[in-house]
Amino acid sequence: MAILKIARMGHPVLLQKCEPVVDPGAPEIRRLVADMMETMEDAAGAGLAAPQVHVPLRLFVFRVSAGRVQEDLEDVPMGNTVLINPDVELLGEERVLGWEGCLSIPGMRAAVPRAGRVRYRGVDCDATPVERVVSGFHARVVQHENDHLDGILYPMRMRDFSLFGFNEELVRAGAV
Ligand code: NI
Repeated sequence: MAILKIARMGHPVLLQKCEPVVDPGAPEIRRLVADMMETMEDAAGAGLAAPQVHVPLRLFVFRVSAGRVQEDLEDVPMGNTVLINPDVELLGEERVLGWEGCLSIPGMRAAVPRAGRVRYRGVDCDATPVERVVSGFHARVVQHENDHLDGILYPMRMRDFSLFGFNEELVRAGAV
């Protein structure tokens, strides 16, 4: 396995629409997924999309730690998970603000409006279909990562830029 180099905002690979994965079980896809999981863990991230490691394909990895789960929501901790060729359906019209960071925008955080609940479908590396309805942080991370596959970074979803800043300053100000 290997730690991959992460593209930062400004790199054109982050702005392109990614191509579907033709063979989710191909050895090179399994290797990419394993390397992306290792890279996500190394960077202490909650999610990582293929274009962030310079591969413009429709897949991402993510995890939902126990500390992120809100008990009143249909949200359970998830270990490292891959979703290939995802389709994400936003459920309901309501949008909720929540803090997000991105490994391609290091050191910063913002409050971003997202659907509180989503249904997503896709496949894993065994081409096994995945379908889940989730809310809370799980719904947020899936929307964030899925956006990467369409060249959308979280600042492009923001409405209130007063809720955008460097982690250290936001912590100092007691904003997060
Ligand atoms: Ni991101």
